[in-house]
Amino acid sequence: MSGSLDFWTDEVLLDPHPHYRALRDLGPVVWLDAQQMYAVPRYTEARAVLGDAGTFCSGQGVGLNDMVNGIGAGTTLMSDGQLHAHLRSVIGPGLTPRALRSMRGTVEQLAAERVARLIQQGSFDAVADLARALPLTVVPDLVGWPAGGREHLLEWAGAAFDLLGPMNARAQRAGPKVQEMLEFAARTAADGSLLPGGLGAAILEAARHGELQPAQVPPLIVDYIAPSLDTTISAIGSAIWLLATHPDQWAALKADPALIPNAFNEAVRLESPIRAFSRVTTSDTQLEGYDIPAGARVIVLYASANRDEREFGRPDDFDVSRTNASAQLGFGYGTHGCAGQGLARLEGQAVLQALVDQVEAIEPGRPVRALNNLINAWASVPVTVHPTRHAAAAGA
Ligand code: HEM
Repeated sequence: MSGSLDFWTDEVLLDPHPHYRALRDLGPVVWLDAQQMYAVPRYTEARAVLGDAGTFCSGQGVGLNDMVNGIGAGTTLMSDGQLHAHLRSVIGPGLTPRALRSMRGTVEQLAAERVARLIQQGSFDAVADLARALPLTVVPDLVGWPAGGREHLLEWAGAAFDLLGPMNARAQRAGPKVQEMLEFAARTAADGSLLPGGLGAAILEAARHGELQPAQVPPLIVDYIAPSLDTTISAIGSAIWLLATHPDQWAALKADPALIPNAFNEAVRLESPIRAFSRVTTSDTQLEGYDIPAGARVIVLYASANRDEREFGRPDDFDVSRTNASAQLGFGYGTHGCAGQGLARLEGQAVLQALVDQVEAIEPGRPVRALNNLINAWASVPVTVHPTRHAAAAGA
């Protein structure tokens, strides 16, 4: 099977789902003429590829062009086998359930305070004023990123995701910004300005003990900053937009806040923050009877797999009670499954909990889509919120 559409034009990126559906109908493995790569647009094969890291490796990069796969070589995201296991073990302790438990109170308090302040305003942008607030505080603090270097983080992280796509105009524009980010990370690692106690300091410590080469340090630090911002902001922004535009689902969540974790999964399923990553085959292989030669690049379309009608009933509906929402692949799956998903869930659920506690109704304004090669997100989601009687009394 082959498809001739370029899935990375502005038009498709702004409304990809009808095109993904057509791609799923073409078959379980489709050759994309525009990218000269295979794609797996359906759920079962996407999960199978992610679950077989021996045949579908990450060490030759998971981006969609050679340049970014060269820059990212040796990061957690773009490594295999023992090196990958070692890199995850360096960062792991900072993101374990135990470590996250100790952050929970702070994160929930930040979310509650932010929502309380926004309620006083009445109308605000749920992306700029709310979705960005937690990721931009929590992750840089976790990494120990110096306070003086935070103003560029969003621009740099967005550029990193543009550069991970095919080498189109967006990726070319992103190149210099990614370079800037890597240089900043290298300076920060060298001049001792990483704050003590963070993941960055743990990486430096591992390098001091000879567990990592000095050259591995800056990309590893970036490895933990870059994938954690736009993704989480996208998920929180999408969740708020979905709840604002589906009053019945908002009412269901208000009636039963225990559904919050499921609602967050459902938002990630429906609006997959990362559209796709890729793998390279280490040997000739077959998927569903389709031959794929060794050395081929295979694009795993999380965003398409998550709306596969073969897996999810009424796949385009937003249903906070969906029984298999947690089967979504938005955080990946298998060995390379998202290392930060516990933290992302903590942040997302804290924001939804604060809204459920303090807001009676959310009215949507007119949202604006963001355009990025790999991140699917809203640039802006204007909303007007009506506080609960309790929250109104507390703010009066
Ligand atoms: C809603 C938010 C997030 C989404 C949707 C998301 C999505 C993903 C996906 C799909 C992968 C798999 C990559 C692959 O298959 O090759 C991944 C890996 C990764 N994520 Fe996340 N992510 C999120 C938040 C975070 C956060 C908050 C952090 C850091 C604190 C983080 C750090 C990482 C790292 C380090 C990897 C590489 C893991 C590996 O290759 O072993 N992510 N993420």
